[in-house]
Amino acid sequence: MAVLKKIRSRLWAPPAEVYVPEPQLTAPVAVGARYDIRPLTISSLDDCWRLDQRCFVDGEAYSRETFEYLLTAPESVSYRAATANGAMVGFVIGLIEPDHTGHITTVGIAPEHRRRHLGQRLMAEVEKGFKKRNVRIVRLEVRSLNIPAQKLYQHLGYAITQRLPKYYSNGGDGLLMLKSLE
Ligand SMILES: CC(C)(COP(=O)(O)OP(=O)(O)OC[C@H]1O[C@@H](n2cnc3c(N)ncnc32)[C@H](O)[C@@H]1OP(=O)(O)O)[C@@H](O)C(=O)NCCC(=O)NCCS
Repeated sequence: MAVLKKIRSRLWAPPAEVYVPEPQLTAPVAVGARYDIRPLTISSLDDCWRLDQRCFVDGEAYSRETFEYLLTAPESVSYRAATANGAMVGFVIGLIEPDHTGHITTVGIAPEHRRRHLGQRLMAEVEKGFKKRNVRIVRLEVRSLNIPAQKLYQHLGYAITQRLPKYYSNGGDGLLMLKSLE
């Protein structure tokens, strides 16, 4: 239990402040590339952990142990996007919290696959998964400096409801965003 608490406390305070976009290291992906969206399970632990490190730079990424917890928790509602050859290029991890809100704990898309509506599709999928489990409110925290993520969430109908001063362990502020699924 103490281990779970420790992991959960890390989730509530991910160490991130400044949004530093990753330079595009890979060749651009063909427009019209097809993606497969499916539930994300523990069998993809290492792929997910590696992709997270590409999405969250400067030591912001979750540990492998945290992913192990997130992908095995019974309250996990998580999906991944893969290319036609099976390479994981996106993930979203949601948890149903004890107060029965849906909590988006992380979402990430490989830099070379961004702006193809994959983030949007994964978010829609996790919201559908939450709805099936009778979740009515979804919440998430985002760094106040992470404008692309805020744009995505606002585009999907999330509203900023609170500023969370020094929410992140390096002192950066967070924003609490909520969406009703009613
Ligand atoms: C945030 C992130 C998940 C967005 O994923 P994505 O697949 O590129 O987003 P989508 O293509 O689904 O975007 C959907 C809409 O969100 C908005 N949006 C997304 N990224 C944006 C950006 N960089 N600038 C402005 N608007 C943006 C747009 O309205 C977009 O619709 P449009 O392309 O038709 O204009 C991605 O940038 C990412 O992985 N970032 C690093 C990890 C991260 O910060 N995760 C969130 C932590 S809280």
